[in-house]
Amino acid sequence: MNIPIRPRRNRQSEAIRALCRETLLCPGDFIYPLFIQDQPHHDAIASMPGCYRWDIEGLLGEIDDAQKVGIHSIVLFPAIDDALKTSKAEECFNPEGLVPRAIRAIKETHPHINVITDIALDPYNSDGHDGIVAKDGRIRNDKTIEVLCNQALCHAQAGADVVSPSDMMDGRVGVLRNALDTEGFKDVSILSYTAKYASAFYGPFRGALDSAPKSGDKKTYQMDYANSREAIREAHLDEDEGADILMVKPAGAYLDIIQRMREVTSLPIAAYQVSGEYLMIKAAAEAGWLDEEKIILETLTSIKRAGADMILTYFAKDAARLLG
Ligand code: PBG
Repeated sequence: MNIPIRPRRNRQSEAIRALCRETLLCPGDFIYPLFIQDQPHHDAIASMPGCYRWDIEGLLGEIDDAQKVGIHSIVLFPAIDDALKTSKAEECFNPEGLVPRAIRAIKETHPHINVITDIALDPYNSDGHDGIVAKDGRIRNDKTIEVLCNQALCHAQAGADVVSPSDMMDGRVGVLRNALDTEGFKDVSILSYTAKYASAFYGPFRGALDSAPKSGDKKTYQMDYANSREAIREAHLDEDEGADILMVKPAGAYLDIIQRMREVTSLPIAAYQVSGEYLMIKAAAEAGWLDEEKIILETLTSIKRAGADMILTYFAKDAARLLG
């Protein structure tokens, strides 16, 4: 048959497929989210099989394991005792709190690990919201930013390399940048959750930290999943306010957002394969319905192909091992 153009020629062996491959994952792409708790032991997380809430010693061991397979960036999420949760979330800037202690321990034992911290109030807030809740139930944008600044400065003081606001308040990147610079933390980066959608994919994470909102939902600050132009608006704002890295979250169902954002910014883009995405894969694999290892690499490659430079994923260690 006269078919001169045959794309299959470039697929006929693994050797030629390797030459033609456009997207390559490597362990250096991953940021490993780690949960911590102020207990003398670690606990399995019921809502996220295969994940743990670590005590500080266990955390250091897990970082050792991750480092061995080539992961050098982690992000910390604390489970805070109920007794320490208040409506103003003051515990989030306690210099002797769980997160600053964990940062100091990591920096002492693993000085080359890139320590990223979550900037938001939900683990500390008795209301379970990322911001301060007013009497009328509304989330107070500017008041929240004041507390976020205290939180970021507390983490920077303890040695955090990157602070990562996940709260979605307006204007927080610029105010955080100014607070960090004024206090002498010019080298602390801001990884902004730029397009964070109000998503049911976060359910298992809220179970892990017992951080679900006590009333209402997060739709007045997290984005409507029906929107994509709005993500570009947020990207321009964060870039102008001085963000170092922009994030899209969740990742898998939002590849179009990653791709669109890639076209309008020269900043690096992070994407977060969130707890619900992790759990869907875990559950299907446990039922014997999907091949876990293959799905991990396929989903992560798709996220990178869409335009993400780095990926936050609970599979970081598994994926790095598979690539090794
Ligand atoms: C809260 C925060 C959430 C996640 C990261 N930071 C949950 C939320 O916004 O309700 C979700 C991560 C995941 O689902 O894996 N600031």
